[in-house]
Amino acid sequence: MCHLKKMEKNFYVTTPIYYVNGAPHVGSAYTTIAADVIARYKKTQGYNVYSLTGTDEHGQKVEETALLKGLTPQAWTDLMAPKFQEMWKLLNIENDDFIRTTEPRHKSAVVKILSTVYEKGDIYCGEYEGKYCVSCENFVPENQIVENKFCPDCGKELRVVKEESYFFKMSKYQDELLKHIDENPNFILPQSRRNEVINFIKQGLQDLSISRNTFTWGIPIEFAPGHITYVWFDALTNYLTAVGYENNLEKFDEFWNNSEVVHLLGKDIVRFHAIIWPCMLLSAGIKLPDKIVAHGWWTSEGEKMSKSKNNVVDPIEEVKKYGVDAFRFCLMREVNFGNDGDYSTKNIISRINNDLANDLGNLLNRTLGMYSKYFDGVIVEGKNEDEFTKNLYILFEETLIVVERSMEKLEFSKSMEAIWKFISRMNKYIDETMPWLLAKEESEKVKLGGVMNTLVEGLYKVAVLIYPYMPVKSQNIWDQLGVEKSIKNSLIEDIKEWNHFKKGDKLGVATVLFPRLEVLVEEAKNELEINENLKIENPTTIEKFGETKIEVVEIISVEKVEGADRLLKFKVKTGKEIRQIVSGIAKNYPEFKLLEGKKVLAVLNLPPVTLLGILSQGMILSTEDKKNGIKLVEISQEIKVGAKLK
Ligand code: MSP
Repeated sequence: MCHLKKMEKNFYVTTPIYYVNGAPHVGSAYTTIAADVIARYKKTQGYNVYSLTGTDEHGQKVEETALLKGLTPQAWTDLMAPKFQEMWKLLNIENDDFIRTTEPRHKSAVVKILSTVYEKGDIYCGEYEGKYCVSCENFVPENQIVENKFCPDCGKELRVVKEESYFFKMSKYQDELLKHIDENPNFILPQSRRNEVINFIKQGLQDLSISRNTFTWGIPIEFAPGHITYVWFDALTNYLTAVGYENNLEKFDEFWNNSEVVHLLGKDIVRFHAIIWPCMLLSAGIKLPDKIVAHGWWTSEGEKMSKSKNNVVDPIEEVKKYGVDAFRFCLMREVNFGNDGDYSTKNIISRINNDLANDLGNLLNRTLGMYSKYFDGVIVEGKNEDEFTKNLYILFEETLIVVERSMEKLEFSKSMEAIWKFISRMNKYIDETMPWLLAKEESEKVKLGGVMNTLVEGLYKVAVLIYPYMPVKSQNIWDQLGVEKSIKNSLIEDIKEWNHFKKGDKLGVATVLFPRLEVLVEEAKNELEINENLKIENPTTIEKFGETKIEVVEIISVEKVEGADRLLKFKVKTGKEIRQIVSGIAKNYPEFKLLEGKKVLAVLNLPPVTLLGILSQGMILSTEDKKNGIKLVEISQEIKVGAKLK
């Protein structure tokens, strides 16, 4: 009995594990935020939740990136993995685990699944001859290659590979997988992806090459000396590793065997998750996940994001501009989870101003303002049973149903649409009930109390519903309502009744929840004229300027200097060597680790100095203004280290 109860209430959600060849960006942030939202939501539904993210650290792509950076793959991955962890901290992600595929626990899990599949007779030795995409880490079948040499997914040039390889008998599981997909309509979501996968399988599954032997950055295969595990076979196994497949069977029972298991991922990697992964599990005799949910891709201001166009949306910058909750909200609200979306400043600002500042922020402000004006901010007894109130109650019940139904399918934006319908209805309720008129009549005091209580109760509920998306602002709403509890432990079950507040409860202090953002009006360019008689102050010469050697350097590592609050110690790569530079900008960069991997400008022909006993071999350039304080001059990643400032 107890076992059965457990089974109903466990929930395990995963994100893809990210390649560490580059820093996290809006794409990786999107899936990770979505996983965090569903994890927090399931907690409000009373589930016992386990959420996982991590980094995919093996394979040719990572090995080659490390080599380019002049580091060993291990040193490179050690440098990059913390960037992801720091980003998730910044985005308020509450993951239970962060897995790195270079960890011993994961290596053991891969060894275990490989030997299980091998013993089953599902692995044989052969030769792979064909084309490989290093960027997607994918063997591309002949019939999919574009113009005889390009990857159909990322468009990059394919490599010709000819090597001895071990193959996994994926073809053997074709029918069983098709049957499973057929019997479980929500196994692959959304429907469009499900159809795509079915069509693909029906064309006939080929056996999969699961070992490589022309490079070494991977997990060695016990039964195949000289071979390492194909990076996708390795990476997919992470979902098992983290819940104890290799060494913690109790945990594995709890969060795999007796849990709802949901994988979130982008549309580009559906086939790996919806075909290779289930076949691996079928072969190893392990239960299949419950849902594989694919989201679309983001463009930036209408264009594909790419480093060369310098239009990659950087979550750190967005959080600085809008705050973490507004950023989380906009990503999840702007497009429905399966669709592609465009990240545009105009849309973000309009979402923040309309949905957050106007609809929600004003509702809270008006309510608290009126409660304070009419009842000194202390809850009174009230009663109001008019049609407006009844309708609002009914709408709330409907809202809960829509929220639950949409969240089952991970349709976040539909769920929020329903929540905002309720918020708008509350705003309308104020206009309908007109508390300012009721306040004029002594005989209407009880009714006024009823109206105002409906509003504070409604806001109390809204905070719980938006908590998964905006954990900070929802707590802030509760604080303003004088609720002295942590919203983190709230349950949807507890907001079904309209009876949280009791007579005599004190409401808190009203503050602005979301400030309105100014939309910058583009200056009319033709009105800007140059002054031909401009006087130059302190003129210099090209020659004098040329004496200063300023070059692009890459920040390899950043550390705090013990005993000096202001100082950061940088290790930077110049065009010729590695140097140490000390800089007094610690106060401006509390998240200084995020600077690692950035390219900046440095003066390289200053004589070395010693600051607090630490050698400094140059000066990193920065700017200073009143609004931002001191900021390093960041250079686009496409510019090479050693490039000179001229
Ligand atoms: N390492 C593999 C996943 C292994 S999971 C067992 C991988 N890593 S990745 O870093 O290249 O991509 C991770 C995720 O980021 C993918 O789900 C991908 O869809 C997502 N995105 C990358 N760019 C994106 C956008 N522009 N928009 C939305 N998501 C995108 O694949």
